[in-house]
Amino acid sequence: MVREIMQVVETIEALREARAALTGRVGLVPTMGALHAGHLSLVEQARAECDAVMVSIFVNPTQFGPNEDLSRYPRDLAHDLSLLERAGVDVVFTPTPELMYPPDFQTWVEVAEVSKGLEGERRPGHFRGVATVVAKLFNLFQPHAAYFGQKDAQQVVVIKRMVLDLNFPLEIIVCPTQREADGLALSSRNVYLNADQRRAAAVLSRALLAAGAAYEGGERHPEKLRAAMLAVLQAEPLAQPEYVSAADARTLQELTLPGETPVLLSMAVRVGTTRLIDNMLLPPALNNRADLTAVLGR
Ligand code: PAF
Repeated sequence: MVREIMQVVETIEALREARAALTGRVGLVPTMGALHAGHLSLVEQARAECDAVMVSIFVNPTQFGPNEDLSRYPRDLAHDLSLLERAGVDVVFTPTPELMYPPDFQTWVEVAEVSKGLEGERRPGHFRGVATVVAKLFNLFQPHAAYFGQKDAQQVVVIKRMVLDLNFPLEIIVCPTQREADGLALSSRNVYLNADQRRAAAVLSRALLAAGAAYEGGERHPEKLRAAMLAVLQAEPLAQPEYVSAADARTLQELTLPGETPVLLSMAVRVGTTRLIDNMLLPPALNNRADLTAVLGR
C-alpha cells in the first residue's frame, strides 16, 4: 500500500483543512510530545481501528501548577515527528500556547466530582486544564475515537464524564500501560531520574503487584489492599509515597468496605524530586484495552 506523506500542521485553518480531506473513521491521539512506546501503542491501536490517525503534540500550560515542571518538561519535536511518521500517522498538529490560549481566552471546562480526589486533590486546577484542552482538541479534530493511556486513569475518567456531559460524538478508548522490563510504567518524566532513582522507581509497580497478589489470594478489604501497597513502598528508602488509593473504578470514590465492584488501585510517589504515578485495575484480568475502556469511569 502506498502511504501519503505525514502532514504536520501548525494553524487551526490548516488543521481543519487536513481533517476535511480525511475520509472514514478518524482516530485522535492527544499527546504532550516526548513520545515513548506508550504513546506509540496508542497510535498502533488507533491505526488498527481507524482509517486515519491524527496526533496532537502540545505541552498544555494550563494543566501544570505553578510549582510543577512546565518549563523543564522534555521536548523533542524532530524526534517525535520521525517516530510518528514511521508509525504511519496521517496528520500531526503542533500548535503554540498562544494559538491555543490567546490573551483574551476565558472559557474553561470543569468536570466537578471526578476531578476532586486523587491527582485532583494534589494538583489543584490540573483537570480543569486537561478537560479544557481536550475539549478544544475534540472540537478541532472532530475524531470518531480518541485514545488515552491507562497510566493517567483519573484523566480517562474525567474525559469520559466530559464526553457524556457535553455530548461529544466520539468514543474514548483506553489502552494498557506500557512498562519497562522491571515494571516501571513508561512516562516522559522518567528521564528526570538518575540511575539510583531509576532503580528505586520500579517499586511502584511492585507495590501494585503485591496488592494484586493479595487480591488474587482472596483479600478484598480495601484497607488491607492499601496497606499491602504502602508496605512495599515504605521498604524503598528513595521512595516517598504521596498517597495510595483503592477506589471504585467507576466513580473514583475511595472504598471503605469490601465489595464486588472493579477496584482502581493507584498511587503517587516521589522519587527524588520526580513525582511518579501508577495504577492497576482489580481483578487483575481487567487490565486490557476492552475492559479498561468499559470499566474506567461511566
Ligand atoms: O495525557 C496527556 O499527555 C495530556 O494530559 C493530554 C491528554 C495530551 C492533554 O494535554
